[in-house]
Amino acid sequence: MNIAVLPGDGIGPEIIAEAVKVLQRIAQDGFDFTFETAPVGGAAYAASGHPLPEATLNLAKAADAVLFGAVGDWKYDTLERHLRPEQAILGLRKNLGLFANLRPAILYAELADASSLKPEVVSGLDILIVRELTGDIYFGQPRGRRTAPDGAFAGQPEAFDTMRYSRPEIERIAHVAFKAAQGRNKRLTSVDKANVLETFQFWKDVVTEVGQQYPDVQLDHMYVDNAAMQLVKAPKKFDVIVTGNMFGDILSDEASMLTGSIGMLPSASLNEKGQGLYEPSHGSAPDIAGQGIANPLATILSAAMMLRHSLGLPEQADRIEAAVQKALAQGLRTPDIHAPGTQKVSTAQMGDAVVAALG
Ligand code: NAI
Ligand code: MG
Repeated sequence: MNIAVLPGDGIGPEIIAEAVKVLQRIAQDGFDFTFETAPVGGAAYAASGHPLPEATLNLAKAADAVLFGAVGDWKYDTLERHLRPEQAILGLRKNLGLFANLRPAILYAELADASSLKPEVVSGLDILIVRELTGDIYFGQPRGRRTAPDGAFAGQPEAFDTMRYSRPEIERIAHVAFKAAQGRNKRLTSVDKANVLETFQFWKDVVTEVGQQYPDVQLDHMYVDNAAMQLVKAPKKFDVIVTGNMFGDILSDEASMLTGSIGMLPSASLNEKGQGLYEPSHGSAPDIAGQGIANPLATILSAAMMLRHSLGLPEQADRIEAAVQKALAQGLRTPDIHAPGTQKVSTAQMGDAVVAALG
C-alpha cells in the first residue's frame, strides 16, 4: 500500500513525523506500507517555485492514500493568490476529485474539561459531519463583479456567486453519509435551507430519495440555522450530519470547538475511487512551529481514518484510536490540552506514548 506523505509547512513536518512513526509500528505487525514523501505548500514554493509541483501531484494521484500535514506561512502572504501555499490543498482536492469531507468531533472523556461547553452537554460526544467539498456556492459559475442590471440598485457595482448542485453530486455525498451512518448509530440529519433556497429544496428531495435505499437509517432534515443552534444546545442528539459545502464549512468549525482543542480533530477527504487525503483539521500553526510542542494527535487520528477508509484496515484504525485514548488516560498532554494534574509532554513524546500504547 502506497502512502504519499506531504508534510508541508509550519508544524506540518513535526506532526507528520509522529503519524508516520505510528504507521510504521502498525506495519511491523505484517502490513506492507510504502511511504513516499514530497514537498507541498510554502516548502514546495521555496524549493521549486510552485505550491503544488507536478511531481507532488503525480505522487498523490498514484498513491492509495495521501497523508497531509498543513500548509501556509505568514511569509508567503504577499504572493499572488495562485502561488500561495493554500492553493496546494485546493489543487489536490480538485485534481483528486475529493468530494466528501468527513470530520468526526469526538470528546475524549479525559479531555472533558477542555470543551467550551458544560460537561453535561458534551460529555461522551461522538458525531460525524459529512461535508460536500467540490460544489455549492464556493465553485458555482457564473460569478463575478459587474454593474447591477436590474433591481433597486440597478446601475450600481455589484458582486455575485451562484449556488448550484446537480443530482449526481447530491447522490454521491448522500451515499457516503448513509453508509457512514450504517457503520455508526444509524441516524442521519441532512442540513439544508430548503425553506428559502431552491438548491437546498432539491438537495432535500434527492437525499430523501437516496434514503429509500437505506431503510435501516433514520433520516431527518434540519434547517441550517436550527442546526447551528442545536450543535451548541444539544450536540449529542446528532449522529451523522450531511450538508453542502458552505454550511458544512461553518458547522464543522463550530463542532470542532465542542471538543476542546483543534489539535485533536482529524479529517478525511474522499473521492469516488475510495482514495483519500487525510489531514488534521487545523492549519500549519506557524506561531508554535519548530518548538516541538504541537499536538500530533489530530494527525495520528487522521492516519487511523486512512486505515479505515482507504486501506481497508478498520481493526488497525480502532487500535490506533484506542492507543490515543490510552495515552490520554495516562495523563500525558501537549500544552494545548494541558490541565492541572496532568503531565506536559512534547510532540515526539506524545507520538512515542501512542506507539508504546499500541503494545
Ligand atoms: P491554525 O489552525 O494553524 O492555528 C490556530 C491556533 O491553533 C494557533 O494558535 C495554533 O498555535 C493552534 N494550533 C493549531 N494546531 C495545533 C496543534 N496541532 N497543536 C497545538 N496548537 C495548535 O490556523 P491559523 O493560525 O489561522 O493559520 C495558520 C496557517 O495555516 C495559515 O497560513 C492558514 O492559511 C493555514 N491553514 C492551512 C490549512 C490546511 O493546510 N489545510 C487549514 C487551515 C489553515
Ligand atoms: Mg473552514
